[in-house]
Amino acid sequence: MNIRIFPDSQTGSVYAAAIVEYVIKSLPSPVLGLATGSTPIPLYEELVRFHKRGLSFAHVTTINLDEYVGLSASHPQSYHHFMYRHLFQHVDVRPDRTFIPDGSASDLAAECARYDDVIRNHPIDIQILGIGVNGHIGFNEPDSALKAHTHVVRLAKETIAANSRFFKPGEAVPVEAITMGLQSILLAKQILLLAFGEEKAEAVANAVYGDVRTSSPASVLQLHPNVTFVLDEAAAKLVLEREQAQASGSAR
Ligand code: PGA
Repeated sequence: MNIRIFPDSQTGSVYAAAIVEYVIKSLPSPVLGLATGSTPIPLYEELVRFHKRGLSFAHVTTINLDEYVGLSASHPQSYHHFMYRHLFQHVDVRPDRTFIPDGSASDLAAECARYDDVIRNHPIDIQILGIGVNGHIGFNEPDSALKAHTHVVRLAKETIAANSRFFKPGEAVPVEAITMGLQSILLAKQILLLAFGEEKAEAVANAVYGDVRTSSPASVLQLHPNVTFVLDEAAAKLVLEREQAQASGSAR
């Protein structure tokens, strides 16, 4: 596991964007696994800047991690809309090469199976991840068991609370989502997990140093051979404290 610590989210996002740019430029048909939430927004802004300077997405396929159940693609808080707003409308990616689960499907089990086929047919070259305050990746929430494949999940209380900041006061916040499973995430050739802000420090430390546990879904990333955590100093607070303690211990 590689850990890169930056003074702030902006510089971390530029670093992440440069890695994504390299993947886009070096592969004939790159497949990007994409995330939503506030964390990857500066990364997408940077990719849009790269596009304005000539980086083409015409040969790129994108596969998103998750979508709320019950929101149509046109709902302003749907992840379809998020991706359109922050990336797709600004670059030359082909709409028929962008994949996001359909949270408004009438048969959600069939939709999960369809999405697993999409992932199987488009092996992911680089997966972008955020991390929840409770250690979730995608919407794989802490539980007594974790799921390998795409599934419908009941969102954890703390996730619903965190997501509520994006919804208008009084508006119903979704309580279920469709999410890619952990096997699909772990099959990506390369993984970049971005975490910014002190509220992520504990989840990051558990993911990096904790035992691999279902109560800390991001800890499964320890099993992957090519993972980079891109952190600002606040999200890296506990990682840095631990490294300093180790360094002073070994200096003694
Ligand atoms: P955030 O969400 O980027 O909005 O903090 C991350 C996540 O829940 O995975």
